[in-house]
Amino acid sequence: MKSNKLQYIGGGILVVLILIQFIVPAHNLSNDNTNNISNKYPVSAEVQQILKTSCNDCHSNLTVYPWYSKIQPVAWWLQHHVDEGKEKLNYSEFLTYAPHRQFHKMEETIEMLGEHEMPLGSYTWIHGDAKLSTAQENLLKDWAGSVMDSLKANYPPDSLINPKKRR
Ligand code: HEC
Repeated sequence: MKSNKLQYIGGGILVVLILIQFIVPAHNLSNDNTNNISNKYPVSAEVQQILKTSCNDCHSNLTVYPWYSKIQPVAWWLQHHVDEGKEKLNYSEFLTYAPHRQFHKMEETIEMLGEHEMPLGSYTWIHGDAKLSTAQENLLKDWAGSVMDSLKANYPPDSLINPKKRR
């Protein structure tokens, strides 16, 4: 009796695992770069390369999906990171942001790098090559700083503050 019940449960789990393989989340593959940050702010080849290897999978319009991203429930978990990362900051859509948002996102970039919070630990665990050296971190921070300088030079100081925080 008991083993029969276990067989049912095991069989049920297997069926569910097979069925969810057919539910495929939308993929982030548009590669639309109309409003890419590099269309207005200089991005050196070196910085471009770092962004590509370490950030763009979650902060651009193009994710390079590994083979295991086709397996559920891994695919959902991965897509959730991509969606959340993109919503917070998308370098491919950067020029659609208001100047104060652009400014703040660069501030955040410097902060995240300073605290070694990005790229996410769960990502570098698999993507060893995405781990940043101190030199790479500094390059990215300097670049983000240069974008902020450029914003300061081109917009009045008021417009670089979030209107909700302005007094
Ligand atoms: C595996 C996906 C992933 C990768 C790779 C990744 N991020 Fe993120 N990033 C996220 C997620 C998810 C969030 C939102 C949650 C959080 O803040 O922890 C985020 C948040 C951020 C934020 C904060 C934005 C805000 O306004 O709150 C910045 C800045 C950032 N990431 C920069 C980077 C940089 C720079 C890199 C590369 C060095 C990078 N990220 C790599 C997923 C990723």
